[in-house]
Amino acid sequence: MPCTCVIGLQWGDEAKGKIVDLLTDRHEIVVRYQGGPNAGHTVVLGGQTFKLSLVPSGIFRPRVQCVVANGVVLHPGTMLREIDSLRERGVHVGENLLISDRAHVIFPWHIEEDRLLNSIIGGEALGTTMRGIGPCYRDKAGRSLAIRLGDLYREGLKERIALIANAKKKMLSGVDGQIDFDADAIHREYSEYAEKLRPQVTDTTRFLLNAVEKGRAILFEGAQGALLDIDHGTFPYVTSSNSSGLGVTTGSGVPSKYITHVIGVIKAYTTRVGGGPFPTEQDNEIGQLIRDRGNEYGTVTRRPRRCGWFDAVAVRYSARLSGADSLAVMLLDVLSALPELQICVAYELDGERIGDFPSHVEDLRRVRPIYERLPGWQKEIGHIRRLSDLPANARAYLDRISELLDRPISIVSVGPDREHTIIVEEKPI
Ligand code: GDP
Ligand code: IMO
Ligand code: MG
Repeated sequence: MPCTCVIGLQWGDEAKGKIVDLLTDRHEIVVRYQGGPNAGHTVVLGGQTFKLSLVPSGIFRPRVQCVVANGVVLHPGTMLREIDSLRERGVHVGENLLISDRAHVIFPWHIEEDRLLNSIIGGEALGTTMRGIGPCYRDKAGRSLAIRLGDLYREGLKERIALIANAKKKMLSGVDGQIDFDADAIHREYSEYAEKLRPQVTDTTRFLLNAVEKGRAILFEGAQGALLDIDHGTFPYVTSSNSSGLGVTTGSGVPSKYITHVIGVIKAYTTRVGGGPFPTEQDNEIGQLIRDRGNEYGTVTRRPRRCGWFDAVAVRYSARLSGADSLAVMLLDVLSALPELQICVAYELDGERIGDFPSHVEDLRRVRPIYERLPGWQKEIGHIRRLSDLPANARAYLDRISELLDRPISIVSVGPDREHTIIVEEKPI
């Protein structure tokens, strides 16, 4: 039975949501296992657009069990609003959604802390999504000020919230004058959330271990992208979880020996939201053209995404790191507007040609991309459903990416809808 991971190999927004929805019909369980409401995954079904931040993108298929596992940080209010808006649009959300009692809870002080610390980093701001992600993971690692979802149902919650609110008030007031939290109001609010979520909350580690041991087909839905990984990404311009393929096991409790296939999801070009180096960025009319055609504005924050050429050095690194077996190349249709395309095949650093992705962010800032030029195809391709029907130059572009990354392409996407997809049948998924 397949146990598949869908992992973004760039800086997020690679269209993982579309791939998860597409592959859900081959799986029984879909799992979100890291990140939180910083994610914005889009699924387009029959012209209707759904944007998900915490609910797994498998929710649209009946009989599929969705799981939000232990590695996710979640804001219960955001989760409930998302569930309500799905229900209002006719999507069933009930026993088909389970949430881990080990998941850590985002509180108002995390959001406040995100706002305060983002502005005092010095130099280029991190540009976080301001959803309290980093501070919540910080408290998880620090332990003493953390609250997990399961704690919301235990005795002593009121006192614990009061203690933490007081500690946070003192700590954060040291950064920015006067900060206060109404512990009683927060306790009431979070107790209400907890009651509403009660039917969903369970030990998902046990559920998933039973499932893999019975050989049930599981799909893991990565959030963010491998280059935003806290350990292996462009630190400190990263998110606070292991968003490469390496995060699947700790984030879900499923040992790596059960994973049968990793699909690396890539855009046919590159985007990045927030701060940090981006060697192939095109802060010019080419970048603007990509932004306009690809509607490259953040799903969560609506910030314009930074756009640039495909970077094979960065993605070769993240594909290796994530153990990608095959590739899904997304938004190929966006490039139809360009007469000529460029792919970064190596970097130049201090006069030397390098093929490896630098480990230090300051070296990455200094690299000069070395490009290969390829002719564009300048034809609309959204209607195409077979690889052989793509213009020859589009096929040559895909072949070159596959060659540079040393991996087969199993899916090509030519539009946002489930239907706008080329499945490369001879390549295994
Ligand atoms: P995710 O976070 O990785 O799930 O990606 P996002 O949802 O943040 O961003 C991907 C965007 O691209 C969404 O607006 C999708 O609807 C859209 N999209 C997905 N695939 C394609 C495609 O092949 N072509 C075009 N033009 N848009 C696509
Ligand atoms: P999906 O799952 C793109 C970026 C933020 C910021 C950095 C840290 O939709 O691909 P954080 O709020 O996580 O502390 O912000 O990470 N970021 C994303 N960029 N897609 C995402 O998620 C992202 N989640 C976080 O813009 O640069
Ligand atoms: Mg997104």
